[in-house]
Amino acid sequence: MEHHKWWQLTTLLFVSIMFQSSLVKTNDIESLEDSLCKQVNKERENPITGLFYNISLPSNYTGIKARVVRLRTSSFYQRGINYSLFNIPPHIVPLPNRKRMAILFENFGNWSSHYFNVPNYTMVAPVFGFVAYTSSGNDFLDNEKMNLVIKGKPILINFHYVRVQEKNDTPICVKLSDNDGGILGFRSMTKDYACEAYGSGHYTLVVPISEESYIKSQSKRFTQWWIVGFVIGFVGLVILVLILVNLVKAAKRKKIKNLENNSENGEPFDTFWIGDTKLPLASMIRTQPVLEND
Ligand SMILES: *[C@@H]1O[C@H](CO)[C@@H](O)[C@H](O)[C@H]1NC(C)=O
Ligand SMILES: *[C@@H]1O[C@H](CO)[C@@H](O)[C@H](O)[C@H]1NC(C)=O
Ligand SMILES: *[C@@H]1O[C@H](CO)[C@@H](O)[C@H](O)[C@H]1NC(C)=O
Ligand SMILES: *[C@@H]1O[C@H](CO)[C@@H](O)[C@H](O)[C@H]1NC(C)=O
Ligand SMILES: *[C@@H]1O[C@H](CO)[C@@H](O)[C@H](O)[C@H]1NC(C)=O
Repeated sequence: MEHHKWWQLTTLLFVSIMFQSSLVKTNDIESLEDSLCKQVNKERENPITGLFYNISLPSNYTGIKARVVRLRTSSFYQRGINYSLFNIPPHIVPLPNRKRMAILFENFGNWSSHYFNVPNYTMVAPVFGFVAYTSSGNDFLDNEKMNLVIKGKPILINFHYVRVQEKNDTPICVKLSDNDGGILGFRSMTKDYACEAYGSGHYTLVVPISEESYIKSQSKRFTQWWIVGFVIGFVGLVILVLILVNLVKAAKRKKIKNLENNSENGEPFDTFWIGDTKLPLASMIRTQPVLEND
């Protein structure tokens, strides 16, 4: 029984390790944005148009910054909006057509590489994002995203803070996917550290990694997989040993039972041994003292 529990526990552990290692990089930008929207709607009813509000994130997200603003769609179309590093020019059409809209601006800060992944490149700036929502009623953000249709000048994102390790590294603009945090497309910078955006989404600057650091990262990954493989192999071995021990025990038990049941040459079940004497079971029962109920 003890062994049985142990065995179940180990199997559970093993399965959960396997499961977690398959989920190492969960991507949940959409669920993060969902919770941001809920948070804003809870904190700010009837926001003042044109005023930027900070969104207070839970403490386990320290490092991510998010702000939101409500706008009249007509004013957005006529004037555009400048905010932080975003320069949104006039004549961008937000669809579907509504009277009011809200824009969520995000700076992923040190969480950038947690949510986004650009293989063979190094991010030299945080990931910045902006998403437009309809904003019709009391709620700051409706559950409806808007598409920004850009026919004329594109949106410019001016990255102020860039970590360039080597002087001759020219960063490249990259648009990242909301679904899996991967790459949607590359584009060269038009001005120093400025990226053109032809729609809402998440953007950053990257530089290609050198051959050297590619090899280094590969060997690091190799080591990591080696360790994971070792752990899985070890746990597998422990389980195997436990199974074997249990099988051997069960076999032994069966053997003993068989020996007890029919020693030597197939004795009938109703005999057993006391010392050298073979006794028929029936006679034993008969000679047993009768217990009296008082
Ligand atoms: C919003 O947060 C920024 C820092 O991220 C801070 O400088 C600013 O004062 C905050 N604004 C409000 C209204 O709290
Ligand atoms: C932060 O905490 C919330 C619960 O308060 C949880 O749902 C979420 O997954 C946590 N996120 C991270 C990145 O730890
Ligand atoms: C935004 O900044 C640009 C210059 O970078 C300027 O031409 C434009 O008028 C500004 N728009 C608003 C709404 O302030
Ligand atoms: C980002 O930095 C903050 C402290 O500034 C820290 O609490 C947080 O854990 C960091 N996040 C990540 C993903 O490293
Ligand atoms: C990264 O670069 C290496 C060679 O430098 C190449 O073999 C590999 O396919 C690249 N990975 C991706 C995801 O492009």
